[in-house]
Amino acid sequence: MSRALWLALVLVLTLVLAPQVLAQEAKDLDKILEEVRAHGYLNVPVEHGRFLQLMVELSDAKRVLEVGTSTGYSGLWIARGLRRTGGKLVTIEIDKDRAATARANFKKAGVDDLVTPHHGDAFQVVPKLEGQFDLIFLDAGSFKAFFDAVAPKLRPGGVLLSHNALLLKDDTQKMLDAAKADGRFLTSVVQIGSDGFAVLHKRRPELK
Ligand SMILES: C[S@@+](CC[C@H](N)C(=O)[O-])C[C@H]1O[C@@H](n2cnc3c(N)ncnc32)[C@H](O)[C@@H]1O
Repeated sequence: MSRALWLALVLVLTLVLAPQVLAQEAKDLDKILEEVRAHGYLNVPVEHGRFLQLMVELSDAKRVLEVGTSTGYSGLWIARGLRRTGGKLVTIEIDKDRAATARANFKKAGVDDLVTPHHGDAFQVVPKLEGQFDLIFLDAGSFKAFFDAVAPKLRPGGVLLSHNALLLKDDTQKMLDAAKADGRFLTSVVQIGSDGFAVLHKRRPELK
């Protein structure tokens, strides 16, 4: 077989097979997401998971940080978006058993190449992380304290999301007040169902 014919065959097979492989992967992930949620611990609701994926894709995030992995459910939604953006997730969980379960779930879902799970206290782990992140998701309460810890790790132009903006209204407000005092953040609260997210955009200084 000539080289040209061989290349043409590879191209055709890729075009035909790749969408089927991706569709199968998406189905597999749907199933695993259901299983993880069924055996999970305080995981985000489905529509909040979809919002996280949306935010990853919308911001074209390449580096995402999550505080509060639990069993990996929200991480799986984030990873779903990262498959498309070509990015990676660093996620931190203080509870040993949940951290181990999350690690297993990431492997089972075939996204362990995209996720670096840390078992530890985020207040200890975050300062040791190198570089900055495009998107940060806080889901472990104590938002003001975590905001102070992660704000230097958010790149200008990046987005910080925190969960339970309605359920943990007072805690969320303390963080929003800190973001206002900081002066670099444009903020809003988005309600999805009965709860929602605080959305904090760290504006680039040149666009002020
Ligand atoms: C609401 S759950 C996270 C749910 C997860 N994001 C999901 O949707 O699948 C909060 C998690 O944060 C963890 N956590 C609390 N304090 C932490 C800390 N200082 N560092 C890391 N994880 C912490 C808890 O152990 C708990 O598993």
